[in-house]
Amino acid sequence: MGSLHAATIAASPDADLVAVCDPDEHATRRASREWSVRTTPILEELLCLPLDAVVVTSPTPQHADHIRAAARAGKAIFAEKPVGLTWEESDCVLREVVDAAVPFQINFQRRWDQRFRAVKKSIKAGDIGQPVLFKFHGRDPDASRASHWGLHRNGGLFLNCAIHDYDAVRYLTGAEVTSLNATGAAVVHKGLAEVGDIDTCSTTLFLDDGSMAITEWSRYATYGFDVGLEVVGTDGFIYLSRGDPSGVVVTGGDAAAPSVYDVFGDAYRASVLGFIDAVRNGHPATPGVDDARAALQVALCARRSYQSGGGVLAVAPPAPRHSSA
Ligand SMILES: NC(=O)c1ccc[n+]([C@@H]2O[C@H](COP(=O)([O-])OP(=O)(O)OC[C@H]3O[C@@H](n4cnc5c(N)ncnc54)[C@H](O)[C@@H]3O)[C@@H](O)[C@H]2O)c1
Repeated sequence: MGSLHAATIAASPDADLVAVCDPDEHATRRASREWSVRTTPILEELLCLPLDAVVVTSPTPQHADHIRAAARAGKAIFAEKPVGLTWEESDCVLREVVDAAVPFQINFQRRWDQRFRAVKKSIKAGDIGQPVLFKFHGRDPDASRASHWGLHRNGGLFLNCAIHDYDAVRYLTGAEVTSLNATGAAVVHKGLAEVGDIDTCSTTLFLDDGSMAITEWSRYATYGFDVGLEVVGTDGFIYLSRGDPSGVVVTGGDAAAPSVYDVFGDAYRASVLGFIDAVRNGHPATPGVDDARAALQVALCARRSYQSGGGVLAVAPPAPRHSSA
């Protein structure tokens, strides 16, 4: 992120890249080669230079200290997310930023993404009526280097990745999150569980305007980084996905409205024809008894979880398998 932001500054007619601070010699050599700037491994040295602003892209555990140092030096601050690893250190340093009265920006870049802006504009224009449900997803290609694993290193999946969606829903709705439940698991990168982290998570958020959001993240997308968003409204929906490079698809209430029979017409027919084939030829019908039982068990458990306030409930183990032939 540091070299990306440095390149943006260096290319801007409205700013000068004055210096780069990094204890890694490889990084500073690269910076002086690419941008002919001063480099230093020591933050205090950087802050003594005649700078207006500092961009903090150090590893997450150091953000709070670096933001504090920049605030005390009276510099404007652009910081990578998250501010810190705990509420206490983050709140404390943000108070210092406010007291220092320096400009501060956190890099929740979705707010600067043209597609997310178009979604907000469309919601505001009333294209989909009342927005009710926001569904975000994020797919990260990897779980970062194992040496970066651990809540004390990057904050874990919620602070490191899903935090973008927590901000995006506030941006898109203008509402505040009042309650949530979250769950997750280390499915692919099992080692993450040993350091208290996960590679797959889901959060359900409730907002003070009555809307809801669901966000899920995973960190094993070998097929590349992806984020998606669907906003379900009373009169239409908005869809943003990598699959549609043109960006945002808004479908309003005046669009031809397919019914469930249109969407699944072929599948309904195939299902019945499959059953006929099973009966005539003595194949097991599918989905059968075990499938009927298993999905119902999950649905009942989901309802109990909801009724009991959203806790994680164990699903009873499956009964011995039956043949539905
Ligand atoms: N907004 C986003 O979408 C986004 C995406 C990726 C990373 N990030 C954030 O950016 C930050 C950096 O992530 P990254 O992937 O670039 O990490 P990275 O490990 O690739 O780079 C971190 C750099 O900081 C340097 N560094 C270490 N200690 C330092 C110090 N005391 N002073 C100055 N530099 C120091 C390291 O040598 C390294 O060059 C993380 O906090 C991460 O959460 C944000």
